[in-house]
Amino acid sequence: MSKTLIITGGAGFIGSHVVRLFVNKYPEYKIVNLDALTYAGNLENLKDIEHAPNYTFVKADITDANAINTIFKEYKPDGVIHLAAESHVDRSIIDPNAFIQTNVMGTANLLNAVRALWNGHFEGKRFYHVSTDEVYGSLGETGFFLETTPYEPQSPYSASKAASDHLVRAYGNTYGLPFVLTNCSNNYGPNHFPEKLIPLFINNICNNKPLPVYGDGKYTRDWLYVIDHARAIDIVFHEGKCCETYNIGGFNEWQNLELVKLLCTKMDEKLGRQPGTSERLITYVKDRPGHDKRYAIDASKINKELGWAPSVTFEEGLSKTIDWYLSNEEWLRNVTSGDYQKYYQAQYSN
Ligand code: NAD
Ligand code: TYD
Repeated sequence: MSKTLIITGGAGFIGSHVVRLFVNKYPEYKIVNLDALTYAGNLENLKDIEHAPNYTFVKADITDANAINTIFKEYKPDGVIHLAAESHVDRSIIDPNAFIQTNVMGTANLLNAVRALWNGHFEGKRFYHVSTDEVYGSLGETGFFLETTPYEPQSPYSASKAASDHLVRAYGNTYGLPFVLTNCSNNYGPNHFPEKLIPLFINNICNNKPLPVYGDGKYTRDWLYVIDHARAIDIVFHEGKCCETYNIGGFNEWQNLELVKLLCTKMDEKLGRQPGTSERLITYVKDRPGHDKRYAIDASKINKELGWAPSVTFEEGLSKTIDWYLSNEEWLRNVTSGDYQKYYQAQYSN
């Protein structure tokens, strides 16, 4: 069946994998990628599908309510998959307002736009809100986040995402807006902006720069290969029950220091360096304020109800990720310099 979907944040890390999957898998859908192209948004991530007949890019900022209403009236989407966000915890500590604006106000603008457009006619309509496990706060040594775990966000990033989750559920409850919501663990893979742990450390190892481990490095995250997250989004968008929440995770917990050591070993192998070379770059630095100790997702609901499970092991995913960065040095150079802006101007100057 033909459908128009607006995917927000489609030029970012996860969004670009979601856009690619939908454009290739559903040629009968019209996929509109709505993205402001902040520092984290990069159209180079989508070069392979940019000329696909069912793909359109629209540059817009979700904090601009008028622009969003105009775009929604023009494209009349049947569905929205909302990924656009400020996503980096450390940046949220430096500038929380940017997170409140985009993650809270931006989400409210999208909800208002679909509410006005769909006007109570919800047959075949769906708003999919992509969220994070960080809304649940921090775990101790044991236990897992369930869909029923109370929200206890600890950083400006997670608080702003929690607020947006509450808004989505409130619009569902109050106006009958058909939504689905997922809370996912830490993603890794190709096109990850090199400010987050794994791509930052890959880049630093390549350049023989120190690897800044926060605190004692004994913080735990549950890692999922980004393409498995995109697969989960496809399944939940099409088969998830209306107004339900699903947790998505990798069943794959790593203490930061252990992960960094594994990364160093693999990088030494790939770069043909003496074993131990990269590990010597590890440097302990001042801890992140309010650093969440441990995240771990119980993803049994999506597994049992929708049959989703990760398809890529961590060994395999990490190896593919390193290979991607080693063969995409130019991408890395461009996103770490101002070159990307030039690419955009050349592409869209008229
Ligand atoms: P990202 O930072 O790589 O990309 C964000 C994208 O949103 C960029 O393309 C950016 O240009 C766009 N954007 C930012 N502000 C915008 C605005 N005001 N208007 C329009 N577009 C804007 O983020 P990501 O890591 O791909 O995360 C995508 C979503 O998934 C986010 O909602 C995030 O909270 C969620 N999430 C991320 C992870 C993770 O590990 N990265 C895990 C779980 C959930
Ligand atoms: P990050 O990739 O920023 O994801 P999040 O904070 O959303 O989980 O960080 C992952 C873990 O790595 C987190 O415990 C913080 C830690 N970390 C470092 O030790 N050094 C760094 O330079 C970065 C960016 C993160």
